[in-house]
Amino acid sequence: MSKSALDLDHPRTHERGDPGGMRERIAHFPTLLQKGWDAAGALRLPASYREATTVLCHGMGGSAIAGDLAADLLRYDSKAPPLTVHRDYGLPAWVDERTLVIASSASGGTEETLSGLPLALERRAKVVALTGGGALAEKATAAGLPVCPVPLSGPPRTLLPYALGALLRLLSGLGMAALDEAGFRAAAQHVAALQKRLDPSIGTAQNSAKALAHAMRGRLPVIYGSHVLAAVGRRWKGQLNENAKSPAFAEELPEAHHNSVVGLGGTHPELQRLFVVLLTPRSAPERLRLRALLTADMLAEQSIPYHSIEPSGGTPLAEVLEATLLGDYVSYYLALLDGQDPTPITAIDRIKARLVK
Ligand code: F6R
Repeated sequence: MSKSALDLDHPRTHERGDPGGMRERIAHFPTLLQKGWDAAGALRLPASYREATTVLCHGMGGSAIAGDLAADLLRYDSKAPPLTVHRDYGLPAWVDERTLVIASSASGGTEETLSGLPLALERRAKVVALTGGGALAEKATAAGLPVCPVPLSGPPRTLLPYALGALLRLLSGLGMAALDEAGFRAAAQHVAALQKRLDPSIGTAQNSAKALAHAMRGRLPVIYGSHVLAAVGRRWKGQLNENAKSPAFAEELPEAHHNSVVGLGGTHPELQRLFVVLLTPRSAPERLRLRALLTADMLAEQSIPYHSIEPSGGTPLAEVLEATLLGDYVSYYLALLDGQDPTPITAIDRIKARLVK
């Protein structure tokens, strides 16, 4: 076994390498998911919110990604309205009084998200603020809008499970998603069991997240997500960026079969340095699963290392949660292997500080 494998299995590696306690925050994934679900269940929404026919999730970074995961899940749900994620200033022109707008910002201070609120009020959209405080909570409360409180217990990206639980509960409570309490609970139990298998206390030989981090080390990760796992690929990318301080890219199948694969078949000198992760749900249509196999064949022909992940959850939600938690842990273990403290995000903080000046 290599020296670094021994290191990841040693508690001191985690104590020293993770002074901000990212490992504990990731371990709370299942608890946060349930807390978000419960918090949104306790919200009292005006009856008129049931009249919404479209949904817009407005947020940035760690506060936006729950919207993407929900959008992937709802895309194939016949009860669901169209759900769009908006990562920009202002609001799309189509947002009106029939739109449910979820303004999501853990800190409550993100300027892009804040810029949408007056427009949403002007257009009489049905707004819910999902926030831990700041100007968003203040303005939403002053406008008499429902505020779903987010615990400020860690960096926003660690609150993804909370935001996802809250969003799903909100949508199912409004009759916009087929998901019910039992379906949610089964998926939550699945991810809680998985957390125990990926925990730092589980040795590398039995821990698939540690093993994958070792395989990925020193390489450029490219995540291919498909179907309900398309946005999970984006989450992996973000977590590899922010926790592991690594560049990373996310692609989607089948779209990648119409462009990106040509780049993989070329002679670029860095091709051999890629590490591809294929996220394929078992619930995906057969043609999409075939495309994942064809991608794997192509990578093998090109001698590009890859790893295929097919979550075993049994339902689309369980698949999404499983693949997301795995990615969170891989990014954490990769950070430690590379001597990076997973918590700080200096580059993001510097840009925010410069924008304030
Ligand atoms: C930090 C993170 C960032 C923030 C983003 C928006 O952990 O993941 O992507 O989520 O800068 O800030 P908030 O979430 O406070 O609106």
